[in-house]
Amino acid sequence: MEKKKIITKRNIGIGIIVFLVLLQFVPVDKSKPPTDESKTFFTMTDPPIKVQRMINDGCMDCHSHEVTYPWYTNVAPVSLWIAGHIRNGRKKINFSTWGDYTSSKQRHHIEECIEVLEENRMPAFSYKVMHSEAKYSEADKQYLIDWFESLN
Ligand code: HEC
Repeated sequence: MEKKKIITKRNIGIGIIVFLVLLQFVPVDKSKPPTDESKTFFTMTDPPIKVQRMINDGCMDCHSHEVTYPWYTNVAPVSLWIAGHIRNGRKKINFSTWGDYTSSKQRHHIEECIEVLEENRMPAFSYKVMHSEAKYSEADKQYLIDWFESLN
């Protein structure tokens, strides 16, 4: 009797679809952690509106508790990938818990912010693809850098 092939293109296709469907059931935590408004970066540094807007547009979705989730963040594996960004971004710098950092840690984080802006490492590239408002002009970027510098 002829042996039936299991690994066919068709079966691989079905396998991928089943995997993607099952992946939708992996829970993604989108809850907003409790936030003490008196400890947020904006409350503590009182930036001009333009700076607030730039940080809101380009940084807060990954570095704070103030996250706006576009529709595609409901679809795995994108949802899992983005949740990872937010988890790692917050771990590095969390603008919602700014007041919990020591003042030397705050100064260090501000230095880092200047560095990543100067080197165009942030806002993250993949983020800019989906968020045109996070593509700062050179002049705006310099404005933001100058403002960060004025803090330290
Ligand atoms: C798409 C999510 C995302 C956005 C948007 C984003 N970041 Fe990040 N950021 C991350 C992640 C994830 C890390 C940690 C991993 C890494 O270093 O790449 C990080 C790391 C950092 C670091 C630490 C870098 C280092 O050298 O360790 C700084 C500083 C930073 N981000 C600042 C910013 C600023 C300022 C903005 C806005 C202008 C911004 N980020 C926008 C996700 C993001």
